[in-house]
Amino acid sequence: MSQAPEILVRVDRAVKHYFRGSECVEVLHEVNLEIERGDFVGLIGPSGSGKTTLLNLIAGLDQPTSGHIFFAGNEISAMNESQLARWRTNAVGFVFQFFHLIPVLTAFENVELPLLLTNMSARRRRDHVRMVLKAVGLDHREHHRPGQLSGGEQQRVGIARALVTDPALIVADEPTGDLDSKKSKEILDLLQMLQEELHKTLLVVTHDPNVAGRTRRLLRIDSGRLIEDRCDANRPLPLRRAAPVAVSSNSAGLVDQPG
Ligand SMILES: Nc1ncnc2c1ncn2[C@@H]1O[C@H](COP(=O)(O)OP(=O)(O)OP(=O)(O)O)[C@@H](O)[C@H]1O
Ligand SMILES: [Mg+2]
Repeated sequence: MSQAPEILVRVDRAVKHYFRGSECVEVLHEVNLEIERGDFVGLIGPSGSGKTTLLNLIAGLDQPTSGHIFFAGNEISAMNESQLARWRTNAVGFVFQFFHLIPVLTAFENVELPLLLTNMSARRRRDHVRMVLKAVGLDHREHHRPGQLSGGEQQRVGIARALVTDPALIVADEPTGDLDSKKSKEILDLLQMLQEELHKTLLVVTHDPNVAGRTRRLLRIDSGRLIEDRCDANRPLPLRRAAPVAVSSNSAGLVDQPG
């Protein structure tokens, strides 16, 4: 049975201005974009072209100056700060270039952090954390602190932390930027697993051609405009089915979705 593609993210004429002193600089010019649920999308472009700015709008870390951002049909650009923060906790997982792990916390505790923002019981938090650490192949490292892990392992902890609330969308800004090529490949294999087996939607900003080459769809931005949009038609979107790691947001008892 075929499934019609579902638009998870819709960016409608998004403009972003910043002020530098009294000068107004437009860094995104009327960007239009739709991302299907379950896709693995790369975003490339020169430094300063607006990649992080666009990612931040889609992930609800920032609001457009004008235009609209929709997620699963809900307009996130119309939400206030607290609604947006609640929405982010449920909907988006973040993976960063420098991992952003807390050095004094163990791998387990770092992954548990996003769940502390929810009303999940300690026992269920423990089960969820162990499940995602296992999914990224780090169940034997749960008591290690970041300083006792390799760079690749630290990024896997970062990915487990992004995954632990079972978000539909995972965004990553230069996830392999601080890793050598072997560790980058491990992280790429893991990101692809998130898409193919756990049916996550991935949006990955990158300068790394190896990352760009692994995505299903590749967007190029230059001077705040999307100038190229390529899709690998030979790679259909994975069919949605029950995920092997059953981290369901319903069973997770997460905070309510706004609206
Ligand atoms: N808070 C801000 N205030 C003013 N200007 C900003 C701000 N954030 C970003 N900019 C400017 O917006 C432009 C786009 O920045 P952005 O961070 O999106 O680029 P990028 O494509 O991610 O670059 P890089 O590859 O170097 O990370 C840049 O010219 C940047 O200086
Ligand atoms: Mg950037």
